Amino acid sequence: MACKYQLLKDEEGEVQRHGNYYEEENDSTGCSGATLPRTRRLFVNVAAFVVVLMMLSCGVHKFFFPGASTADSLPRKGNAQKIPSTTQGPFPPTTVSFDESLTFASEDLNASNPRVQRKASEMEPEQIFIALSGDDAMWVSWVTGEAQIGQKIEPLDPNSVASVAVYGTESGRYTKTVNGSSEIYNQLYPFAGLDNYTSGIIHHARLTGLKPETKYYYKVGDPYLGAMSEERSFTTLPVPGPKSFPARIGVIGDIGLTYNSTSTFDHLMMNQPELVLMVGDLVYADLYVTNGTGAASYSKEFSDTPIHETYQPRWDLWGRFMEPLASRVPFMVIEGNHEKEPQVDGITFASYQARIAVPHKESGSPNKFYYSFNAGSIHFVMLGAYIDYSRTSEQYAWLKQDLAKVDRSVTPWLIAAYHPPWYNSYTAHYREVECMRISLEALLYEHGVDLILNGHVHAYERSNRVYNYTLDNCGPVHIVIGDGGNHEKMALTHADQGPEFCPNPQDSFDEFGNCGFSFEAGPAAGKFCWDRQPEWSAYREASFGHGIIEVVNSTHLLWTWHRNQDIFNGVGDQLYVVRQPGICPNQPIV
Ligand SMILES: [Fe+2]
Repeated sequence: MACKYQLLKDEEGEVQRHGNYYEEENDSTGCSGATLPRTRRLFVNVAAFVVVLMMLSCGVHKFFFPGASTADSLPRKGNAQKIPSTTQGPFPPTTVSFDESLTFASEDLNASNPRVQRKASEMEPEQIFIALSGDDAMWVSWVTGEAQIGQKIEPLDPNSVASVAVYGTESGRYTKTVNGSSEIYNQLYPFAGLDNYTSGIIHHARLTGLKPETKYYYKVGDPYLGAMSEERSFTTLPVPGPKSFPARIGVIGDIGLTYNSTSTFDHLMMNQPELVLMVGDLVYADLYVTNGTGAASYSKEFSDTPIHETYQPRWDLWGRFMEPLASRVPFMVIEGNHEKEPQVDGITFASYQARIAVPHKESGSPNKFYYSFNAGSIHFVMLGAYIDYSRTSEQYAWLKQDLAKVDRSVTPWLIAAYHPPWYNSYTAHYREVECMRISLEALLYEHGVDLILNGHVHAYERSNRVYNYTLDNCGPVHIVIGDGGNHEKMALTHADQGPEFCPNPQDSFDEFGNCGFSFEAGPAAGKFCWDRQPEWSAYREASFGHGIIEVVNSTHLLWTWHRNQDIFNGVGDQLYVVRQPGICPNQPIV
């Protein structure tokens, strides 16, 4: 006689959800008295163990407090200390000294490293990346054919190989096919003795009609040549909405391709992000000259070159290095100064523009230097610091329109990202983009931006809520996370350490202008630098690492900084960013 618990299995013998189990178990059974209760106890024990494991994992707060409304009721992480929230701020400025046992720089991986070696042959796809493209589409990019560098190069014909992507929701069964586009770029240095570069063929295809929270399997390449990639997969994000929370969003900046970079990348992989933001300075090919010689400082080592050279094969090495994660998790990139890579006739950003797919057209932007996208309950604006950002610029008009369109009842969280920070108390790049801050800060504040993510400075810093250098409970929190581990050295000194550490205002600016002057009011009035850690600087520490964003609900977001020297689940810094719609007029009620 069949026992009732056997009804847990469907026709194919698969175990059904435990809800059905209890329904059937409440009926009478013909089983022996011992069999069913023991099975249930075992099931309950296993289920409880699984739940505990899930709660101990990185998304722990969602299991404990899905509707938590105050930081005090939220769980603890890391070293079991209470996680602070912005409602408890502003926090007293804290500096953690550099740990002298750590390296503050490391060498680049060379071309023979297995992580970056070319394994593809002929026209087999490699360097596969994906990126969000609107709410129901995904860009997939890849490279075929071999790049060339030398005195004599012959650009490949982009039409010599197809740009096909096939995809579907079942492994090995691809129900959709899309034909993408292909292009090449050249990095040319018409100077005696310098080598020129021509890329492999770079393909972009847009996978459309994707359902949210669904796993897709895909291949890319040229089926006519029999040159398709191995199968890859990705899972789409939740549909935009106030209760849609991607589990983990990784944030990395200034990563480069060193042994420190590999540590950052591996730690990021272990945190299993669903989405990654890269806040500029990707490859650092511009720390090299065209013969492949590199240095930690281009200006010191190669000061007499006729133009700022690059060694473009580094981009191909980096593409291979990133692929294991970037082919299955969307990478959303914004440009940094190291992507500029000038050529003659004013050509810049050639590699960035050819290789990186971003949803700029999808978000109404005229170019790849600024754009926006949604990820669950978050609207991200990615801003360009190396293109006109003045109040009469195209970028300003686009940003104003984009922010005005944001429906906070759908995406209550608003996060901005761009490369160089406005709030940075390190000597490196101190107040370098004051013109950008003066132009854009009021607009971001007016629209209640919650969090701002930057790189550029090779260290970590978290601000208190701040606006116009003044503590403001309704201002955004600024994060500097340019500590990905590139070949340039860690930023170790602070502008407030003494006069010799405070840059000259006349020297501290980028090519878009000089707006940095002495403060007119406040504790640093009459000075360009503070004489102590500024009050807006809540926490700063020079160490390599990456960040993770976890949205708890429409009012609480957990920011975590993971350092490379910590083991998995270690925490360098942590904060709940709390929206206060009833208190801050720029943070609408949803
Ligand atoms: Fe930078």
